[in-house]
Amino acid sequence: MELVHDLANPLTVLMGYAGLLKQEAESLAKYDPKKAEQLMEFTDIVARSAGYCHHLAENWRKVSKGTENFVELDLVDLAKEIHRVMFYSKPTITLSGLDELMVRGSRMELARVFQNLMRNALDAEPKRVEIVFEKLEDEVVVRIRDNGEGMDETTIHRAMKGGFTTKEHGTGLGLSICRHLLGAHGASIAVESVKSEGTEVRLSFPTQS
Ligand SMILES: Nc1ncnc2c1ncn2[C@@H]1O[C@H](COP(=O)(O)OP(=O)(O)OP(=O)(O)O)[C@@H](O)[C@H]1O
Ligand SMILES: [Mg+2]
Repeated sequence: MELVHDLANPLTVLMGYAGLLKQEAESLAKYDPKKAEQLMEFTDIVARSAGYCHHLAENWRKVSKGTENFVELDLVDLAKEIHRVMFYSKPTITLSGLDELMVRGSRMELARVFQNLMRNALDAEPKRVEIVFEKLEDEVVVRIRDNGEGMDETTIHRAMKGGFTTKEHGTGLGLSICRHLLGAHGASIAVESVKSEGTEVRLSFPTQS
């Protein structure tokens, strides 16, 4: 909690300076429009990432105070936003199925779920990651499918338990955090994987009554 508090200040500074940098880049436009455009694009990415971190920090604060309320939100729209903001619209990731899928939940918490799962899928070095949105009779389903390195049974088991990582800089907490966040939404997560073929992470949300 203290860490979250102390993060807020440097993040505000970061966002402020990103804004100033953007203004500087705009003033460069008449001399070197190409460079200026590129600079603006980079600055925009920095600003958006810092803004997202700021939202996360704020959200943590609210959650710990118990004031965060669930809202009606569109999972497709949220996944699109995470893809764009956090993964710079990387073309490896594609979205398919329904164009809109409403659930009740916390935008920030579900954003963290998408961020973790897209990151995991990309870390598996796939050619493709497909996120499929479906509405079944009594559940709302999101599948995050990759054709990356896959996992054997033992690895799936360890990964779901938490505290297990095969990555140099991994914490091994991503999947257990997702399970926890989804649990608070009455949703569940299941992982199916075949070594050397790929992985499918299936999220199931209760339908709206
Ligand atoms: N889509 C996937 N394909 C292959 N292996 C995966 C996939 N998702 C998870 N794993 C395996 O499960 C392990 C645990 O994943 P988890 O997200 O919990 O932690 P991490 O990704 O290692 O660390 P962090 O989330 O902090 O970056 C990973 O290290 C990886 O071995
Ligand atoms: Mg992870």
